[in-house]
Amino acid sequence: MWNKVQETVRFLKDKTNYSPEIGIILGSGLGTFTEDIAIEFTIPYSEIPNFPVSTVQGHKGALVFGRIGSKSVVAMQGRFHFYEGYDMQTVTFPVRVMKYMGVQNLIVSNASGGVNPNYKVGDIILLKDHINLFPDHPLRGLNDERFGPRFVNMSEPYSRRMNQKAKTIALENNIELKDGIYLGLQGPTFETLAEYKMVKILGADCVGMSTVPEVIVARHMNVECLGVSVITDMGDEENIEEVNHEEVLEAAKKAEPAVRKLIKEFILHF
Ligand code: HPA
Repeated sequence: MWNKVQETVRFLKDKTNYSPEIGIILGSGLGTFTEDIAIEFTIPYSEIPNFPVSTVQGHKGALVFGRIGSKSVVAMQGRFHFYEGYDMQTVTFPVRVMKYMGVQNLIVSNASGGVNPNYKVGDIILLKDHINLFPDHPLRGLNDERFGPRFVNMSEPYSRRMNQKAKTIALENNIELKDGIYLGLQGPTFETLAEYKMVKILGADCVGMSTVPEVIVARHMNVECLGVSVITDMGDEENIEEVNHEEVLEAAKKAEPAVRKLIKEFILHF
């Protein structure tokens, strides 16, 4: 794994001569964020050694290098999900690559189903914690100490410092930002009514099929994370609705201008 990561980093450095400080994973609802980046290089996953290729409709596959103000960033346009069939090492490989390109802060976005009755479709949620219920773990197996320790402290999966800044930026820009706990499940089925109830009972506010593996691997390497989720459907008992992928994409799209503004201003002022 170490050698593969370094090989990919070398390839990307040779091509771009870039050392981005901030990494961004563009989930549903933030796909067009690349329009806010002064792009210098777009490299399709298919051209990057050791990179998998993403398979979900609505997700593109490229690494985008560029600037937002004075900050240099790398964005993943399209991420890899466990439900696509990749193992956890593959799902999280790009996060390792971003770290060794120079990334110290990672911004992760996603779409999720809300179970907190105070949420509504279109809400933007700042993740303050998560619950990992994926059936496999990206750090299972021999630990390579060059990446990080065997036993990773997870008391601050989402950086308090970054969250504080995001809240300030939201206030200053009149963007409504709620916060909450994200529960990660493997999918690809959306939750049954009983499962949404379980998510709520377990203490989470929203549920989705991504983010948790990437954040775990980022924390393994001591990368600070910010997580933002768009509520695309509701799964609380009084407010339950049938959900499908098209509705998720549509709801995410509606929230996109506000999410883009939040992340752009955050990066400019971080
Ligand atoms: N469940 C799981 N993943 C999701 C959901 C959901 O309700 N909405 C968007 N992604």
